[in-house]
Amino acid sequence: MPTPFYVTTPIYYVNDAPHIGHAYTTVAADTLARWRRLWGDDVVFLTGTDEHGLKVQRAAEAQGVTPAEWADRTSERFREAWRLLDITNTDFIRTTEPRHYAAVSEFLQRVHDNGYIELDTYEGLYCVHCEAYYAEDELVGGTNCPIHDRPVDHVTEENYFFRLSRFTDRLLEHYERHPEAVQPDTRRNEVLGFIKQGLRDFSMSRTSITWGIPLPWDPAHVTYVWFDALFNYCTAIGYGSDRARFDRYWPVDYHLVGKDILRFHAVFWPAMLMAAGEAPPTCVFAHGYLLVGGEKMSKTRLNQIAPADLVAGFGSDGFRYHFLADQRFGPDGDFSYEAMVARYNADLANNFGNLANRVLNMAVNYCGGVVPDTRADGPLMAAAAAAFTGATTAMERLDYAAACGAVWDLIRATNAYIEDTEPWKLHKAGDVAAVHGVLGDCLESLRIVALLAAPVIPRAGAELWRRLGLPGRPEDARLPGAAAWGGLPVGAPLEKGDPLFPRFEPPVA
Ligand code: ME8
Ligand code: MG
Repeated sequence: MPTPFYVTTPIYYVNDAPHIGHAYTTVAADTLARWRRLWGDDVVFLTGTDEHGLKVQRAAEAQGVTPAEWADRTSERFREAWRLLDITNTDFIRTTEPRHYAAVSEFLQRVHDNGYIELDTYEGLYCVHCEAYYAEDELVGGTNCPIHDRPVDHVTEENYFFRLSRFTDRLLEHYERHPEAVQPDTRRNEVLGFIKQGLRDFSMSRTSITWGIPLPWDPAHVTYVWFDALFNYCTAIGYGSDRARFDRYWPVDYHLVGKDILRFHAVFWPAMLMAAGEAPPTCVFAHGYLLVGGEKMSKTRLNQIAPADLVAGFGSDGFRYHFLADQRFGPDGDFSYEAMVARYNADLANNFGNLANRVLNMAVNYCGGVVPDTRADGPLMAAAAAAFTGATTAMERLDYAAACGAVWDLIRATNAYIEDTEPWKLHKAGDVAAVHGVLGDCLESLRIVALLAAPVIPRAGAELWRRLGLPGRPEDARLPGAAAWGGLPVGAPLEKGDPLFPRFEPPVA
């Protein structure tokens, strides 16, 4: 039976149009899902949309439609973006689906029965954009939300509270025993620091809004949007409907999230799960913000970039490669169009694309258009092994940039090998065995490049695979065997073709 592997993205608020920040997390999750499939895992990859809460209710009112109609329209934009980026999610969850209502109701009842949800009165400072309360000392300038820098509201409400305060010790103990459960390290320290201050109960129901999931024992209240949203991860794998399936995939292997929602995922969520008697997530990996011109993207700053705008110029592969290779997954990173053009031309058009063209052209011209029956088994053999090891160890820590680096090292080594051996001279001199040996190595190296790069650049990976005369697609191959040197079948028909990545010439302004 293949190993189950479960990876998620956040479910995105339907009020925002998809932008490169959402795409960043989603492309990273997709690459991990594709990578694990190469290892033969049985992958569940979940994304979706978060459709309840006050903000959605208000936006719908402003548009003169029901919240459900509004959510139908706006949720679709995320599906479109993910199709455009070749995202291979196995499910797409919407919090307004009946399956989610059923699962959340069951979960709420369980937590209530276990005594962790109780009626109480609360007064506090609330940010509607976060849908969260803040303590006075957390505010910026004494008035504003630390995430959104907008004024918080003073709210008094009688509603149900989740007894988060009872989980302080259990959470600390959990993270003590599982230091890998929050990554990277800086984020773990942040989470531990927050828990150590002591946790406050939080309000988990509202009577002021109707757009949400009612509490099963008191339907005048609807569930707080985060309580409902986080549970999507359990709904999708069968909580409350298919226990065997749930047990197969839970606990989740990776929740990929931005640092903005770390606290919800690494403090609230594991406590909620513990309260229901379920295991906490295996790993919450929180990456930094993608900045544009040094600033966080936001609707109000009008600096949100739609994935489609970049895909139009660089293709889906060009988009995916840029965001994974350009900076480490973890810290904040700055997006710049100029850097994207430069990296595309250097790494994809030049290194990757030219190498493929060069090798295939020579092999078609010097080896009769088929994979030759000789290999030199020269220095590229070791370079290919290093690329595989490098990519594998990097992917274990979700260091996508290092994984790309390892594969591109093999590309550079192959280009250097061609410069050193000058197959065109060997051909002129009539040394057929030597030509075949060198190009045999280069073709084999290209096979391994296509295989290892495919999770990041699936289109070019598959096309190179085809041009190498390999059957099926890279994703049909299985690691580690497929990465072993010498997998290219002798005599397979080779094909030259158009550049895999045409050079990008920015439009003249
Ligand atoms: O928070 N840089 O949804 P959301 C990097 N519905 N990543 C970014 C980004 C940026 N500038 N902007 C957004 C919510 N993201 C809740 C989540 S989950 C149970 C509920 C990505 O639409 C990043 O993954 O505000 C961030 O955590 C997420 O989008 C926030 O999406
Ligand atoms: Mg947000």
